[in-house]
Amino acid sequence: MSIVVTGATGHLGRLVVEQLLEKVPAERITAVVRTPEKAADLAGRGVRIAVADYNAPETFDGLFAAGDRVLLISGNEFDKGRVQQHRVVIDAAEAAGVALLAYTSAPGSLTAALADDHRGTEEALLASGLPYTLLRNGWYHENYTEQLAPVLEHGAVVQAAGEGRISSASRADYAAAAVAVLTGEGHENRTYELGGDQAWGFAEFAAEVSRQTGKEIDYRPVSVEEYQGILAGAGLPGPLAAILAGVDASIEKGELVVDSGDLSRLTGRPTTPLADSVAAALEG
Ligand SMILES: NC(=O)c1ccc[n+]([C@@H]2O[C@H](COP(=O)([O-])OP(=O)(O)OC[C@H]3O[C@@H](n4cnc5c(N)ncnc54)[C@H](OP(=O)(O)O)[C@@H]3O)[C@@H](O)[C@H]2O)c1
Repeated sequence: MSIVVTGATGHLGRLVVEQLLEKVPAERITAVVRTPEKAADLAGRGVRIAVADYNAPETFDGLFAAGDRVLLISGNEFDKGRVQQHRVVIDAAEAAGVALLAYTSAPGSLTAALADDHRGTEEALLASGLPYTLLRNGWYHENYTEQLAPVLEHGAVVQAAGEGRISSASRADYAAAAVAVLTGEGHENRTYELGGDQAWGFAEFAAEVSRQTGKEIDYRPVSVEEYQGILAGAGLPGPLAAILAGVDASIEKGELVVDSGDLSRLTGRPTTPLADSVAAALEG
């Protein structure tokens, strides 16, 4: 019986595997990756590497075993039909009779188009009859703290979220929640709404960056249309720019405020303050 993590060479997947290695022997962990070269360090530490692609169902044949606990990390190929991709993993897990399939979803309150694939995957997972855990991850701090270069260049945080607030947390916090579910008991058929302990708005984010850099940084709220144009102008494909601008509209409506307390309850500690992630990004 293994703990199997898909998307293991992504940002979140790497953190999950790192944190699993602190809790269970390496030989009990399987990292599912597309490119084994990217996982050479994990293989070197004794983690089993399985090569598979959500776009190629046959690559999942025989990958799972009865009793495995599986974390399906949602993919990032927005243009390739992510529900069908995720269904490939669910079908293989069902055929093998895994003990648990945990899926990294999005908050139940999120109505932006970005959430459609997550709702579709949740439906497929529930229809499979597999024991499931829905990890409805809220936003990552890093969505913003890893995008500081244009903020520092222009002295402005430009978003289309008005006074909306977000309860984000660090990726490491969400990884810890996944590890708690994969290594703990009693998480079958549960849905967790995961978010940071403190919600914040973009004016506060700008003030925090300002405080830590000593530079004057303001929040410049723009319309959703203007923001979409800015993202497209920065080189994002049109459909992706529309999806991301739609998220800001949801933030303004309060859809990314998650106040369930599930994240700190699952991990047993407070979530990482936004200021810590800003500091880490500035150091990095
Ligand atoms: N909550 C949030 O704020 C937030 C923000 C961004 C994304 N997300 C979602 O959460 C997921 C994890 O976040 P992240 O930061 O770890 O994203 P990430 O670094 O982009 O990782 C995505 C992972 O999915 C894997 N993947 C993509 N397409 C695949 C395919 N066809 N077959 C197999 N694996 C595939 C990638 O494999 P490779 O390593 O080979 O590229 C990568 O490991 C994202 O994919 C996205 O769905 C959430």
